[in-house]
This record gives sequence, structure tokens and C-alpha cells, in this order.
Amino acid sequence: MPPNPHSSGDPIADRRGAYAEALASERAYAEAAEVMEQALELVPDWAVGWYSLGRHHEAAGSLEGAIAAWRRSAELDPEGRYGAALKLAAYGVGSAGRATAYVETLFDDYATRFETSLVDRLGYRVPEALAAAVAASGRLTAGRAVDLGCGTGLMGVRVRPHVGRLDGVDLSQAMLAEARRKGIYDSLTRADLFDYLRGEDGIDLVLAADVLNYTGPLAPVLAAVRPVLNPGGCFAFSLETHEGPEAEILRTSLRFAHRPEAALAACRAAGFELLSSRAESLRHDRGEPVAGLLVVLSRG
Ligand SMILES: C[S@@+](CC[C@H](N)C(=O)[O-])C[C@H]1O[C@@H](n2cnc3c(N)ncnc32)[C@H](O)[C@@H]1O
Repeated sequence: MPPNPHSSGDPIADRRGAYAEALASERAYAEAAEVMEQALELVPDWAVGWYSLGRHHEAAGSLEGAIAAWRRSAELDPEGRYGAALKLAAYGVGSAGRATAYVETLFDDYATRFETSLVDRLGYRVPEALAAAVAASGRLTAGRAVDLGCGTGLMGVRVRPHVGRLDGVDLSQAMLAEARRKGIYDSLTRADLFDYLRGEDGIDLVLAADVLNYTGPLAPVLAAVRPVLNPGGCFAFSLETHEGPEAEILRTSLRFAHRPEAALAACRAAGFELLSSRAESLRHDRGEPVAGLLVVLSRG
């Protein structure tokens, strides 16, 4: 078996960490925090351990304890792989910074369970709904399509029969490995979508299914996509939405949510023509539907 990349390096601390997770899964959050604290006495520099302690405190309703633990985790994890700085920002402590290291770690861990967990258990249906929205706008048949944040290829499967060439890009090597197994992409590139787009042009269709909830404000994405599209090219994406006054917020789930009116105004301001926008439930989270928006734009 490969070594656990999140191990503390001390088998006893690891066992206590695992026991804390088991307690948390039984909703015994305060007890989980206590056991995690014992583990951290053994390995005080365990960044992911401090992150987990923060989660147990958060679930137990002790925000003060959670913030102290995430501060320690953030100090020990300057790259931000475990998301402590994002958690702090979501609670109004400091700024989020870039989420790329966190996203890569999250999806590298999640890749082999992604489809069963998301599609089978959480009712994820963005790829088919987004493909249907693009088809209804008459833009699904295209020359070259690029699937931003392609993940395991669920969006790619929907568009492959309709496009001449399909390229995928993702931050997570493990997600790309799953996508590669499907054999549907002409190329798969491991990159941040902003870096990838800087080197591109001549694209007819750009897709981002359940991806822009990890990238934050919409304007930089729109500014990066528009120049790579051919005239009349199409950009279709999903957003998680919220009804508050802010253009976007970082939720404690560490996903961004956008106010629909602000998102559509940003699309117009970036020079896109709106072909369609539709409110849609994206998946379930703790039994509740997650509200979202499907947007189809034309470069004009
Ligand atoms: C929830 S998954 C969705 C995957 C796929 N689009 C689908 O619908 O099944 C989000 C994917 O976006 C990728 N991602 C998030 N931010 C990214 C970025 N800045 N650049 C490239 N990929 C990113 C993640 O690695 C992950 O694979």
C-alpha cells in the first residue's frame, strides 16, 4: 500500500486521529476534538491534524477552538493544501488567497470515489443539465471544445459525440487519471485553468461544470475565456448561488456562491451575449438541494 500522504508520521497519533474521525462520524464532535487534541500532543506539527481538530470544534459549535486550530494548521501549511486559510476566510478571519493547492489535494484524495459519491449518492446532475442547456442554445455541435476542470470526464462524456476535438484541463492528477481511462479526450493537461487559457485560442465551446465554485470572483474567469473563443464561440458554466447582497461569498463548505444578478451583470460587462440562464439544483448537501445557475454565453 502507498504511504498515507496525510499521516502524522506517528502510528499512535494516526490511530487517535482515525478514532476521532470515527467519533465525528457518530456525531460525537466534542469527544472527537478531545481525542484529536491528544493526538496533537504527540505530534504538535501535524498540519492536517490541526485542520481536523478545527473541523471537530466547528461541528461541536466551538468556533473559537476551531479558529485557533485552523490558525495553527495554516502556519504549518504555507501552501494551503488543507484549506485552513480558506476556512478562516470563510469565517471572516483574513483573506482566502488562492485555492489551487487545496483543490488539488481535495480532488487527488477524492478522485476514485468521486463518481459514486457525487452522482450516485448526492444526485449530481450538472453535466447533463449543462449539455442540455448548450444544446437548447444550438451550440452543442462545435469544432473544438475545452472542458475546464474536467475532473473524471462526466462533462466530456456528454459533449464528446457532438464536437470535433475535445481537450480537458484539471489541477488534479488523480482526477485526470480517471478521465484518461474514459478515452474520450484528445488531450488532457494538468494545469490551473487560468494558466492553460493564457496559451490558447481558436476554441468554439468552453465548458466549466461545477468548477467556478472553486475559483472565486467571476470577472477574471470571463476575462480569461473570452479572448480564446472564436467569434460566435460559446462559454457554458454552472455556479452555486446565494441570495445575499454580496456578488460572491466563500461558504464554510469552502465553495464560492454567486448572486445570480451580479453574475449575469459581470457576463454582460465582460462583453458576452447571454444565450440562456436557468436556476437549477446542482446536487444535494446534507439532504438539502444546492441552489445553482446554469449560464450559456456567446462571445458575440
Ligand atoms: C466538482 S469537480 C467537477 C468535475 C467535472 N467538471 C464534472 O462535472 O464532473 C471540480 C473539478 O474542477 C477542478 N478545478 C477546480 N479549480 C480548478 C482550477 N483553477 N483549474 C483547473 N481545475 C480546477 C478540480 O480539480 C475538480 O476536478
